[in-house]
Amino acid sequence: MNLKTLLTFDDVLLLPQYSDIKSRSEVTLSSSMSEGVELRVPIIASPMDTVCGVAMSTKIADFGGLGIVHRYNSIDEQAAIVSKVSEAGTKLVGAAIGVTGDYLQRARELVSAGASILCLDVAHGDHLLTHLALYNIKDKYGHLVHLMAGNVATYAGALALAQLGVNSIRVGIGGGSICSTRIQTGHGMPTLASIIDCTEIKQKFPDVKIIADGGIKNSGDIVKALAAGADVVMVGSLIAGTTEAPGTVIHKGGETFKSYRGMASKDAQMDWRGKVSSLEGVATVVPYKGAVLEVLQGLENGIRSGLSYSGAKNLDELRKNAQFVRQTQSGLSESNTHIMWRY
Ligand code: IMP
Repeated sequence: MNLKTLLTFDDVLLLPQYSDIKSRSEVTLSSSMSEGVELRVPIIASPMDTVCGVAMSTKIADFGGLGIVHRYNSIDEQAAIVSKVSEAGTKLVGAAIGVTGDYLQRARELVSAGASILCLDVAHGDHLLTHLALYNIKDKYGHLVHLMAGNVATYAGALALAQLGVNSIRVGIGGGSICSTRIQTGHGMPTLASIIDCTEIKQKFPDVKIIADGGIKNSGDIVKALAAGADVVMVGSLIAGTTEAPGTVIHKGGETFKSYRGMASKDAQMDWRGKVSSLEGVATVVPYKGAVLEVLQGLENGIRSGLSYSGAKNLDELRKNAQFVRQTQSGLSESNTHIMWRY
């Protein structure tokens, strides 16, 4: 066997380059997803029940990103969330659907409640059932909404979705912070390598957008994902634990937390379908972080600085200028803050 070595975020760095950018405000981070779906900041909130409901969708869209309302509830409940977000005047409202059962009825209700983006949200997007569902959804709603689908990890998986007419593809299998897919099933692909592979479909489908999804830990990882070819990133853990994430604040030992869980965790599956089939996620708590706008602002500042280090005024220039190098384990230790004194 001649195995390829595939890299992910912590394996690489971007070389700093000559820059004539005098202020981070000269940098634009805008990303056009399709006609009418323009993001000021290339960040999308994951369709998870501890990440994206009414408050998250509204605030992240106000900020210039996008939220995808999760689908782990009844059609009426999800449609009510979507309608509240679009009543609040939000133009870009994303909503997730599955690929079996009542997904067509769900899609119909979500579109009439105001969803402008439908996301076919499954663990294995390169699958017959996803392809069939996509065919049906494209036929009925393709002219009305932006179609997002995934997740896939490989060029072949992304190509199949592009051929079926999606506008954007969620790329990343097994990299999520709460994900145990690689441990349970032995399958997956390092996420940065997946982005590089899937971005190749743009040779044939230049308008299809790539969403880097799973395992993004900080703004540095966002910059690396965008430099590797992603048009936008999707984040769960980075914005979980904020005021706008669904769920209450948990007080324990003088500290505050909020719940964050994989949708294939035991807790989540028991709550939304009353049984556990394949266990591919974990449930945990994360520190309570306060207002999501502050978290998003911090990420935006980091991304702007990142573009400036690559001498790039926008995401196209970042992709053109980016020079990746590999780092060793000692390079990574050096990259992480490593001051010894604590008090
Ligand atoms: P994070 O940003 O690293 O926390 O990853 C969030 C992403 O993990 C989501 O956008 C999904 O693609 C993925 N995900 C959500 N729940 C699960 C799960 O239970 N198992 C595996 N992946 C999951």
